[in-house]
Amino acid sequence: MIEYWESRFRNEGAMWKSEPADSAIFALQLFKSEKINRILIPGFGYGRNARLFIDNGFRVSGIEISGSAINLARLSGIECAIHHGSVTSMPFDNEEYEGVYCYAMIHLLNKPERKKFLTSCYNQLIKNGLMLCTVASKENSLFGTGRYLSKDRYEIAKGLSVYFYDSISVLDEFSEFGEVECKDIEEPVKFIEGAAPVKLKLVICRK
Ligand SMILES: C[S@@+](CC[C@H](N)C(=O)[O-])C[C@H]1O[C@@H](n2cnc3c(N)ncnc32)[C@H](O)[C@@H]1O
Repeated sequence: MIEYWESRFRNEGAMWKSEPADSAIFALQLFKSEKINRILIPGFGYGRNARLFIDNGFRVSGIEISGSAINLARLSGIECAIHHGSVTSMPFDNEEYEGVYCYAMIHLLNKPERKKFLTSCYNQLIKNGLMLCTVASKENSLFGTGRYLSKDRYEIAKGLSVYFYDSISVLDEFSEFGEVECKDIEEPVKFIEGAAPVKLKLVICRK
């Protein structure tokens, strides 16, 4: 997994350009309405989503496995704390967070890793805190492609394994981490003109 992301960021740089995902814009509004300010962004990338929160006065910390992605974030002027390592090694600090925003990262983990990751986030979340995640959906056209690994999990490209969720597996994996809301979303691919949107599930858990 690390090799896959490291080589992509090293070779392609800021491959999704600088505009934040629509779900980050949604999270920003939701967090603001809940007076949430201190947030964690696991799977930080080079910070295209983090910048939106930072520019809006949020206190942000990140976790990112790729050193090249962190370098890109630093080169673009992002100064917040970014822990370099895998989310499977959480916690990286003793902070309590009011919110977690995680875009398209959880589905990259295997089942025990997903459980450990969600437990670690939950442990660092304050009571009533919100965790907002987008995850790959079985509605996505990539579901069922590539090499079968286990139920609903495929190696869709060399070194890139993805677990695809439906509403049942979302409830199954997230409901022990608070009150869960799940909806289907379509993320526009803003950096490729004419590209079809990506089908994801937006999962919101309140501790
Ligand atoms: C699909 S990308 C999304 C990046 C970023 N959230 C964005 O939207 O711009 C997934 C990100 O998670 C990072 N990642 C993958 N596995 C990770 C892990 N185990 N721990 C921390 N980061 C990880 C990748 O390097 C990559 O930056």
